[in-house]
Amino acid sequence: KDQKFSIAASEPSNLKEPRPPQSTLTNDFGTPVADNQNSITAGPRGPVMLQDHHLLEKLAHFNRERVPERVVHAKGAGAFGTFTVTRAIPELTAAKLFQQKGNQCRMLARFSTVAGEQGFADTVRDPRGFALKFYTEDGNWDLVGNNTPVFFIRDGSKFPDFIHSQKRHGATGRRSNTMQFDFWIHKKEALHQVLYIFGDRGIPLTFRHMNGYGSHTYSLWNEKGERVFVKWHMHTQQGVKNLTEQEATEIAGKNPDFHRMDLHDAIERGEYPRWKVSIQVMTEEQADTYHIHPFDVTKIWPHKDFPLMEVGEFELNENPTNFFAEIEQAAFEPSNMPRGFGPSPDKMLQARIMSYADAHRYRIGANYGQLPVNMPVTPVSNYHRDGFLRHNNFGGAPVYEPNSFGGPAADDRLKEPPLRLKGDMDRFNSYAETDEDYYAQPGALYRLMQPDEQQRVHGNYGRALAVVPRFIQDEYCAMLDKVDPRLGAGVREEIARADAQPEPGIEQVLHELHTYAAQGDMKVSGELVGD
Ligand code: HEM
Repeated sequence: KDQKFSIAASEPSNLKEPRPPQSTLTNDFGTPVADNQNSITAGPRGPVMLQDHHLLEKLAHFNRERVPERVVHAKGAGAFGTFTVTRAIPELTAAKLFQQKGNQCRMLARFSTVAGEQGFADTVRDPRGFALKFYTEDGNWDLVGNNTPVFFIRDGSKFPDFIHSQKRHGATGRRSNTMQFDFWIHKKEALHQVLYIFGDRGIPLTFRHMNGYGSHTYSLWNEKGERVFVKWHMHTQQGVKNLTEQEATEIAGKNPDFHRMDLHDAIERGEYPRWKVSIQVMTEEQADTYHIHPFDVTKIWPHKDFPLMEVGEFELNENPTNFFAEIEQAAFEPSNMPRGFGPSPDKMLQARIMSYADAHRYRIGANYGQLPVNMPVTPVSNYHRDGFLRHNNFGGAPVYEPNSFGGPAADDRLKEPPLRLKGDMDRFNSYAETDEDYYAQPGALYRLMQPDEQQRVHGNYGRALAVVPRFIQDEYCAMLDKVDPRLGAGVREEIARADAQPEPGIEQVLHELHTYAAQGDMKVSGELVGD
């Protein structure tokens, strides 16, 4: 309806007008290249000469153009922007950024789908990654969240299993609804997140039209050494808008890079997307007694108990100048927590603190921190040395610590306050009695949805479940009954409907396409939903 949401692929702005060459072509070491069209051969019809080092360099470099894609969240898009503090919170955090209203820092955001690979279509049903890097004067602060306030599992040891169930089957090389729902009948705590994903918010209209959440419980600590636990919320100022499955499927075919294009083109038009940033705050004493386990990432903290406090806003106003250098090589890591920020005992967050930096060392290399996009604006001063592609190696400065020759030393005034712990060391399969309640929060979420969204949820679940074995359908619907009996019944009805109307065969699809084409009307059907 709106020209700005045209799904037709746009062309890059620097590809509109022809220009003559702006410089002489050189090799990687500055020597001008005389001929970039013809390899050196022995005679006009003879074989290629080994001495054609320009050809060798070109082919060898091409073979090394790819770094491994991210093992999850491979397909995404990003942009730089500005974060502004709208409420100072020195009573909560020692972070310099939050000492004064109006403080600003440059930042980077990357949004992504989770399960698909680099070339995957953007408009699939999946959580969206919502990764933020703030270049603060205390060092980089990364908030690596999603567009959902909860997650599927609550123990890091299940992450590889969960992701395997979402990825491709070993023999067919295809994704499998059976693997996904089989995992979910075994891990009931996933119900909450899966309901989000099968609701309207499972397919955002664009990256600009979705909220972001830190999801985990993090902490903040102040100059007095007092700690609070917090959850971070980023609310889109563009409004939450979503696509129906039908719209999304059509766009996926016409422009698989639709979300990537939309973010870039909106910024190029000067329509800078904005988000408000808020926190929920829980004291350590409240965390001891609150009836919901505060470190369970499959649960939210109800706003009535822990109201939102707005502390900032950000705007994305600068496209990357080079996608590979600034987005593909961007390395977000939940372990980037400058002074005044901290983790919580959330088991998932603890696993992530190890996992991301490890992934970057494998994917980009041990010195990924020296790439401009990952470098802090504060000086880096330490004893890490050498390794592939190292740039700053600290000259002749001391290489061990402690030393007598002026090398950098730790400052214990920067120490995080200690965390009180109690209990036995063990492998706990649940947090507490009440945390076995997998159904109350998904039930509340379902009842918050308008009847038309509930209907779409039934259809989305029904079509996905229709292809899985009966025992998984039965088990999953029994779980949905406990969320809300209307949900279980509605999904059973939709499974039956999908069974009665199997997917059209290829002949029928071709026939329908020819009919549309004959009418000159390849229409997009449905309305935008879920404002
Ligand atoms: C990306 C691991 C849970 C959000 C990644 C990557 C790994 C990973 C290895 C790829 C990093 C890279 O190569 O750059 C894990 C593990 C988890 C976990 C082990 C659980 C124990 C979560 C949760 C969230 C999340 C709970 C959100 C609340 C993201 C995002 C990215 C990502 C947004 C993409 C970052 C980017 O844009 O570069 N994760 N993850 N992950 N993960 Fe997780």
